[in-house]
Amino acid sequence: MQTITRRDMLRKSVAELREDGATVALVPTMGALHDGHLTLMREAAKLADHVVASIFVNPTQFGPNEDLDAYPRQLAEDSAMLEGEGVALLWAPTVDEMYPEGFASNISVEGVSANFCGADRPGHFDGVATVVCKLFHQVLPDIACFGEKDWQQLAVIRQMARDLDLTRPLASDIIGIPTVREPDGLAMSSRNRYLNAEDRAAAATLPREMREAIARIEDGQHVGRTLAALEDALLGAGFSSVDYADLADAASLAKLDELGNGPARLLVAARIGGTRLIDNMGVLSG
Ligand code: PAJ
Repeated sequence: MQTITRRDMLRKSVAELREDGATVALVPTMGALHDGHLTLMREAAKLADHVVASIFVNPTQFGPNEDLDAYPRQLAEDSAMLEGEGVALLWAPTVDEMYPEGFASNISVEGVSANFCGADRPGHFDGVATVVCKLFHQVLPDIACFGEKDWQQLAVIRQMARDLDLTRPLASDIIGIPTVREPDGLAMSSRNRYLNAEDRAAAATLPREMREAIARIEDGQHVGRTLAALEDALLGAGFSSVDYADLADAASLAKLDELGNGPARLLVAARIGGTRLIDNMGVLSG
């Protein structure tokens, strides 16, 4: 596996990968890799001849009081894991390489970014969209893989790709990969390592109570009351606050008061031991 840290080197190396018409999949990450990330690499390898992974802890998607400084950085360990997955190229730029002095542009995707994490974390999705757009232009992949774990992020990226013509020969195909979970159901996340043993054990209440709420909603029970009960259950289990626990249209991410005909999603963000966890699951309609 080649590791590249400079843009001028990247173009040349990706062009070499593309010789003889080989295809390239991009998997963007912020590192601190776990099996969720590695599943993305494996799925990408099934869909393209070569996988390019990126590791970049993107400062512009962190708010002023968020965990940018604390975010785990372990490039050597991550590199070894990617090598083990057969990743062809690791793109690991520095902050200066990604945002040279004088950088002044911003991509803001409206609509799908309005609620949920978009409302709780002002500027977060602008930071995500801008860096992902840059990554697409830097790598020029045939496809790009993202996790459903970050359902709203996936919706923002799909909307941006449609709106800004990031279609082939840029990254037309945005592939969503189902959430990879720990044996107790907690969605894998680089932030789970912030949890102490007690909070880690309590965190598994989140997926369990979400499944319970989904069963009730699918059974026709009142959505508002079911979501209120979900919040109470999380607070009772040791979560300190619930940023949101909502039912939404799976594509537009508009909030739903009741199940409609189209696919719906239950989305939750909740805090435990100072760590903000997010999760989402599909809800069957009709
Ligand atoms: P990061 O949190 O490192 O996640 C990188 C990719 O892995 C994202 O597409 C995310 O949805 C996916 N992922 C994380 N946990 C997962 C899990 N348990 N199961 C399946 N996929 C999972 O998301 C980001 O980085 C950044 O916002 C980024 C897109 C790289 C832009 O900076």
